Formats: sequence, C-alpha cells, structure tokens
Amino acid sequence: MLAVLAVSCAKPQPQAFQVIPMPADVTVTDGAFCVKGVAVAVDSALDELSQKAVGRFVSALETATGAKTKSGEGGISFVLNASLAPEQYTINVKADGAVVEASALNGFVYACETLKQMLPAAIYGSAKAKADWVLPYCSIQDQPRFAYRGMHLDPCRHFWTIEETKRYIDVMTAYKLNRFHWHLTEDQGWRMEIKAYPKLTEVSAWRNGTVIKKDWGSNDGIRYGGFYTQEQMKEIVAYAAERGITVIPEVDLPGHMVAALAAYPELGCTGGPYEVWTRWGVAPDILCAGNEDVYKFLEAVLTEAMDIFPSEYIHIGGDEAFNEEMGIPWDHCPKCAAKMRELGIKKGPMAKHYLQNYVTARMQAFLNQHGRKIIGWDEVLEGNLAPGATVMSWRGVKGGIEAANKGFDAIMTPNSYLYFDYYQGQERDKEPFGIGGYLPVEKVYSYEPFDGLTPAAQKHILGVQANLWTEYILTPEHLEYMLLPRMCALSEVQWCAADKKDYARFDASLDHTFAILDAMGMNYSLDCRGLIGLDRQPARTPEQMEEYLAKKDWGW
Ligand code: ACM
Ligand code: ZN
Repeated sequence: MLAVLAVSCAKPQPQAFQVIPMPADVTVTDGAFCVKGVAVAVDSALDELSQKAVGRFVSALETATGAKTKSGEGGISFVLNASLAPEQYTINVKADGAVVEASALNGFVYACETLKQMLPAAIYGSAKAKADWVLPYCSIQDQPRFAYRGMHLDPCRHFWTIEETKRYIDVMTAYKLNRFHWHLTEDQGWRMEIKAYPKLTEVSAWRNGTVIKKDWGSNDGIRYGGFYTQEQMKEIVAYAAERGITVIPEVDLPGHMVAALAAYPELGCTGGPYEVWTRWGVAPDILCAGNEDVYKFLEAVLTEAMDIFPSEYIHIGGDEAFNEEMGIPWDHCPKCAAKMRELGIKKGPMAKHYLQNYVTARMQAFLNQHGRKIIGWDEVLEGNLAPGATVMSWRGVKGGIEAANKGFDAIMTPNSYLYFDYYQGQERDKEPFGIGGYLPVEKVYSYEPFDGLTPAAQKHILGVQANLWTEYILTPEHLEYMLLPRMCALSEVQWCAADKKDYARFDASLDHTFAILDAMGMNYSLDCRGLIGLDRQPARTPEQMEEYLAKKDWGW
C-alpha cells in the first residue's frame, strides 16, 4: 500500500483543467507530458509575429521551469495549418509530445495562452518555480464565438502610463481579448499628441485640480494631467498587435470636448473662455457645429489619429452631447442656427439630434474616404444615422437591438452588465469609493448578447466589450481591482458558445485564475469569495447584510 502511494505521489500531476475562457472542444485523458527542458520545433512557415509569440511562450517556460528548451522534434511542435480560421487553433498532447496548429498570429497567441493556463500558474510569473511542469494528455479544438472581443480604458479622467497600459494589454491577452478601445479625449483631459494643434498637449492635457468624490463644489487643488506622444501611442499599437490585439482610438465628438475648447476656445459656440473641466458629468459646452474651423480641426486630429492607429475602425464618440439642464449652446448660436437653416433642419426637439447626425455623417464620410469605418456610442442612432456606421450600445442593450434591427452593425457594451466602474459588492463601506451601481462577477457572466434579437439581427452583433471609466479610480491597484476577475467573466461571454457557459465550472476555475493573476502581479477583487474591498475584509453575515442594506439608499 505504502509502495503504491509513493509511486503515485511521485508521478507528476497536471494542473486541473481550469482554462478561462473554456475552449470549444476539450478531451482530457489520463497521463501527462513533461515540458521542463522540452524540445521545441517551430514550423518555418510561421510569420514573424507568430514566431515571436511562440518565442514569448518558450521564454516564459524557460524562466518558470528554470530549464532551457532544446530545438527539435518530440517535444512541443508549432505547425502552420492553413485550413484553420485566423483565430482558431488545435492542441494535441500525447505520450510522444504536444502539437499546436494554427493558421495565423491570433490562433498561435491563443494556443500559447491555453498551454500556459494548463500549466502551473507560475508560468505567468518572472521567477523559477518548483512545480509539476507537465501538460495533461488532451485534444483541444478552439475558436471564439465573437470576432470583436473588446476592453475599453479611460486614461482621461485618470491617467495611466504606457507601462500600466501594457500590463492592461497583457491581462487582456491572457484571456484572449482582441480589441483595445482607448478613450483618448475628454472634458477633463486630452491625452493624444496632435502635431497640428500643439495646445492640445500644452493646455488641454492638464486640469487645475479635481473634484473630491461627489462633492461637486470641491477641488483638491492638485494640478493633474499627462499625455501620450505619437511615438508612445505607436509603441502601444505595436505591443498590442504582437498579441493579436487591435487598438481602436476614440476621439469623442461633438461633446466631451471641453479640454480641447480650453486650448482653442474659438471652436465653441460662445468663444469661451473655457477651462479643462475639474468635475465629472456631462459638460454643457461642446464643439460648434456651424463653424468650418471645427471640421478643419477634427479632420486634422483624425488624420493624425489614422497615421498612429491602423485599425479598420475609428471611434468618434457621440455620447452625451447635450446637457438639457445646463443649457445647449447650439440653441443660442448664430453659426449653428445658420447651419441648421442650410441643412433644412426645422426647430423642435429633434433639431439638435439632426445637427449631431450631420457632424457624425461628415466625419464618417471623411474617414470612409481614407478607408476607415466609424463606431459611435448609441446616441448616434437618434435622428438619422448614415449607413455603414457601427453602434456601440452602452445605455443598456436597447440601442444595440435597435441598431441591429435597422441593419447597422453593433457592439454590445451595456452598462447593465459591462460597466466595470460599477461596484462589485453591496458593502459599499468596504469598497473603494465608486460611481455607483452593483455589478458582481456572476452578473457579468450571465450576459447573453443575443437576448432580444431575431436571427437576422444577431448577424449584426460584431461582439462584446466592457468599459472601464476612471472618474473614481486613482491607482493601478484600484484599476486592476475593478477589472478583475470581471474581465475573465467577460472573456467567456465573448469567447464561449452559450451552451458552453457554466457559472459553477467558471467559478471553480477562478482559483487557478487568481493564482495566475498573483503570478502576473495583478490586483483583483475577491468579493466573489466573501473578501470585500482592496483590503479584503470579511463579508457580513446574511443577517448583518440585511440590516446594513435596510439603512442605505441603493439607487443611483
Ligand atoms: C458613456 O458611458 N458615456 C458612453
Ligand atoms: Zn455653434
């Protein structure tokens, strides 16, 4: 008996199969293949970026196992298989080795991430670790459900360095996301260097203090800001591209432009003066739609943006252009009035939407002439949206459903499921201060993007994205806490067929993901394990919770 035990304990045990997002088809059988000091064979037909991706995997394996790999057959082979789709891959592990097949960079990147998640979590770290460095015998065939699998980041309300942004891209890579929506312009700060308009970085990138929490009259008195040079943004584009991720920049227009107006007040309806905004919300001041210099400005900005970002899509914002309570400058502007007359727009509640439609369509035509397409927040649907635009549904799912029913492509980013600035626990006194809402990881996981859509309309859903606005997020530790593990739940919404999703299986896999995130040095929330907030305080008992909730107003 003892002898049997000793033998079985000596046998290396593969990590339990806890890959997120769960691959489409997986068969795991008894047995394990040792990869410490393994031979690696890379098909010379792989393109340069695919070879580089494999190289990163091999280097992680060597670091974590502390053993050099050899080149040659009989270990792990990476093979080009042109019959697979660009994001598809297969992995077969048997006694005589592991064979990985894909046709393009994304397939190889995802195969490497699946291999890493099948290994001990230390493969994601930067130190040698003692562990069972074996892959389970398995046969995997995998490809994503949606082509667009996005994650957004707001570097305007609070600024994230190039290194912090790369870490964000690293964790997106680990969970097989492929679009990084970079929200680069805002009322509170302009972050994109534009050579034709140098005051955007000299003036618009800096604000004179920031409101404290939601005390709207307050200001912390600390000058705040920053921007990315064009070289830095190109560095992010290249870094993401090596990982199969396309960066989609957003130039939010005609609203959310106060920072630009502070530098170029002549582009606003009143001529200013304006200040880079120091509080949150919907600012009343926007670009004047009746001034040709505004279009000259936007075309110059978009021209430089297109030079930095090779993405098929450019996001032109379009959200929250109008603050009804604070007044709409377009209603009192002779230039806007003249433009409305020229366009035959009649006075009335829809007039401002038709004028916004004109601005959107003009930018869309300009970008189309340069071979690009637009994405706009769902407000662009109000009035008449020109064909060919893609709608990003954020005010719940209804904008996306309406867009798809009208024949527009849509990307689903509903705040009801995918706004990662919302609280993930109900014990707000233990959470870092936030905007509001309640979005636990299980609710993110429960999102089904085709709900409410006919089969014909489903074809217009390009994919799914979560958004991370940073009004109340001041540190990378807090940013990562809001992102994780909700982004892991998002990854299954984006990747897995609906019938492959299973919250109990996902939840059981989270322990391995937490070990991976620890190895990566990423912070994450343990709310779903009953440890609440950045300092992971124990959750209340159900009775204590009832008492706590009864005392609070849990609305917005
Ligand atoms: C948005 O959250 N204003 C798109
Ligand atoms: Zn105007």
